[in-house]
Amino acid sequence: MADRPFIVGNWKMHGTRAMLSEARAIDRAAQRHMKVEVAIAPPYTLIHPIHREAGQIGVGAQNCHFADEGAHTGDISASMIADAGAKFVILGHSERREGHGETSEIVKAKVEAALKAGLRVILCCGETEATRDAGNAVPYVKDQITASLPKVDKAGDQLTIAYEPIWAIGTGKTATSADIQEMHAEIRSLLVELFGAEEGAGVRILYGGSVKPENAAQILGLPEVGGALVGGASLTADSFMSIALAAESSEA
Ligand code: 13P
Repeated sequence: MADRPFIVGNWKMHGTRAMLSEARAIDRAAQRHMKVEVAIAPPYTLIHPIHREAGQIGVGAQNCHFADEGAHTGDISASMIADAGAKFVILGHSERREGHGETSEIVKAKVEAALKAGLRVILCCGETEATRDAGNAVPYVKDQITASLPKVDKAGDQLTIAYEPIWAIGTGKTATSADIQEMHAEIRSLLVELFGAEEGAGVRILYGGSVKPENAAQILGLPEVGGALVGGASLTADSFMSIALAAESSEA
């Protein structure tokens, strides 16, 4: 299962119940693309309705708290999103790290809580443009991953990494093929170091940041790119499933 390309839509703070028809369309189309694992992380309010209606795609959340319950007004725990039907959670997204002051230490506690609740985790990492320009992107991202991950027994099944350069998110800019290849190869060797040859090799590494139908085939065809974490282009079934189709073709 972990060898199929993984195409995940991060709907961010987009979507009311009117978007359920789009989720249904994605689910129907996913049934025709079984060589690809398709999933959506909608806002919390849509997790349960999509879980009930969608038979093919996986449903996940975009965040959770590290505590299982308690006096945390406005927060939600991993076990609550699992109860709503989520199978995975995106953690450590740069919009959480930057907009909500989430340190790698906090992210690590969230990863632990999510795994305990039986969720799979998509851990995000990525550098700013200034860090890349200074030539420090690779060590920065490797440090971020190391600091954000607890010990994981079955990393290949439980963990996915999403490399999302911050300057490529929502900007229409994407990293060059050479930069993506270099970063994904470095992340792979780190995963093997952390989890051993077998489990480290089984973790899929997604690319994210302005992935669109027009650039998906090129990005998804690169070595060590195991799928994509898609923001804006995941909001319509048409554009999202064009990306899934590109993933399927890259497997052929
Ligand atoms: P965009 O695809 O809109 O650039 O967003 C990427 C992202 O942040 C996915 O998590």
